[in-house]
Amino acid sequence: MKSNREHWNGIFRNTADEKLGWYENDPAQMLRLLNQIPDWENSTLFLPGAGTSILVDVLLGAGANLMLNDISQTALDHVKERLGDLSPAIGWICQDIAQPLGIAVPPVDVWIDRAVLHFLTDEDDIQGYFKNVLSKVKLCGHVLFAEFPPHGSAKCAGLDLHRYSVEELVEKLGDGFSLIESFDHTYMNPAGDPRPYIYTLFERVA
Ligand SMILES: C[S@@+](CC[C@H](N)C(=O)[O-])C[C@H]1O[C@@H](n2cnc3c(N)ncnc32)[C@H](O)[C@@H]1O
Repeated sequence: MKSNREHWNGIFRNTADEKLGWYENDPAQMLRLLNQIPDWENSTLFLPGAGTSILVDVLLGAGANLMLNDISQTALDHVKERLGDLSPAIGWICQDIAQPLGIAVPPVDVWIDRAVLHFLTDEDDIQGYFKNVLSKVKLCGHVLFAEFPPHGSAKCAGLDLHRYSVEELVEKLGDGFSLIESFDHTYMNPAGDPRPYIYTLFERVA
């Protein structure tokens, strides 16, 4: 089955956040990459497929300007409810990230994707995603990915995945981006199953 809005709304309607197979209460690995970017706290961060991630609360608490995307309005509504009075400070973009982002999304300093890109399995969708990266990430901006690697799980949330090596991410981003760092991290999901991820940090150089 292809990733779609009804599927994800159903998951977020029927599952407590702490039971989601990708839930993490300490986004330490993403922060490890983010902390290599000078002054990220004072920049605009775009999170495609943000889901109900706790990373949002951490980034907001640090003072960053946030734009949150998800295909699931249910997920975004959960975050709005959780953040309460803080939610008006955020830009909310409910759409398929494979489709062109409009002018409501300004050029951004940092693009942060954890476990979203790998759900796009059609070549057209993957190309659409990377066109968005190219059109929205500023020169000298950064792109952070945490995706399932080639030896990782072939499915998540009942969906087939396109898993990524560092080399394929380098190739997909193209010459305009330079790889700063990559590392492997095995996340233990709430069911106690190990889920290997590859983490990467890129800088836009052209
Ligand atoms: C595995 S979850 C990860 C959520 C969050 N990034 C995190 O780390 O907790 C995948 C997220 O991507 C969203 N998603 C899936 N396909 C999408 C698409 N085509 N466009 C935008 N969001 C999508 C889902 O609704 C879900 O919130």
